[in-house]
Amino acid sequence: PQRHEEKPILRVAVSGAAGQIAQHLLFMLASGGCFGMDQPLAFQLLDSKEESLDSLEGIAMELEDSLYPLLREIKIGNNPQKVFQDADWALLLGAVPRKKGTHRAELLDINGRIYQEQGKALNEVASEDCKVLVVGNPCNTNALICMENAPRLQRKNFHALMRLDENRAKCQLALKAQRPYTCVTNLCVWGNHSTTQVPDFLNACIAGEPATDVVKDEHWFQHDFTPTVAGRGGEIARRMERSPAASTAVAIADAVKSLVDPTHEQDCFSSAVCTDGNPYGIHEGLICSMPCWSEGDGVYHICEDFAIDDWLRERILESEDELIRERECVSHLLPNAGPAAC
Ligand code: LMR
Repeated sequence: PQRHEEKPILRVAVSGAAGQIAQHLLFMLASGGCFGMDQPLAFQLLDSKEESLDSLEGIAMELEDSLYPLLREIKIGNNPQKVFQDADWALLLGAVPRKKGTHRAELLDINGRIYQEQGKALNEVASEDCKVLVVGNPCNTNALICMENAPRLQRKNFHALMRLDENRAKCQLALKAQRPYTCVTNLCVWGNHSTTQVPDFLNACIAGEPATDVVKDEHWFQHDFTPTVAGRGGEIARRMERSPAASTAVAIADAVKSLVDPTHEQDCFSSAVCTDGNPYGIHEGLICSMPCWSEGDGVYHICEDFAIDDWLRERILESEDELIRERECVSHLLPNAGPAAC
């Protein structure tokens, strides 16, 4: 009889690993629900603050005590050059949160520096095929900085998290249509993970029917659905006095699964990816969310057949313009770019 060959260990690096999102995420990943029930894992946990090492040790101990059969190794540290060694995936959660009175440009600079350092470290030590998912805000521009500082890695392998926005949009549509969440498919949230994001109701389906045929209420789509989805994170943060952590972790797990498993026919997922050569005429050299489908094993493509009407085009352009302005603000962190223009 043939002996069952085990898959090689998959190395998953996580930054911001002592933070609240990681508290949820690491246990979901370790259970095998994202990378597969036959995929042995090594966790490489980074938190750049010296004082977080104790917390990282505590998390590692909790993971060990949970006896996850697939979790074979845990490494912790605060030096990305060491922690990212041979990483196959890098889930980058680490970022300084916005405080009252912090301007967006300041946040772009503070967090941009973190992603410049982490991009350089990935470039030096990660696996050549490493897939990178940036969650720390402003995530699109952080992902851009990371990508531009890691030229050895494939540009296609950089993502910024838009799945949280997609999940929020699916929730609102399902509630309005009074149908289960799973009925909502082909829903892309385009653009920047900011209030300019564009939840696309034109191409979305509910139980296989165009969402606009099921919910016949254009005013609701434009003036209720769209701002509710875009403002959802802020609304939760106001109530909880901190950013949503659990639903963010769930969305990260969903985003990873969407890349690891092939996408069902007639469906898509939202991911902010590099716009080089995109079929929608979006400005190149940005990290902008577009509808994607996956072949599995991390190989994905941009869906080419999304209809775009004038309303959608105008909104996507606004979000695209915001991304261009953000890129100008961080040009000092991008190799081969001019001085910051903001
Ligand atoms: C969210 O959308 O909930 C977060 O990205 C908000 C934030 O700034 O942490």
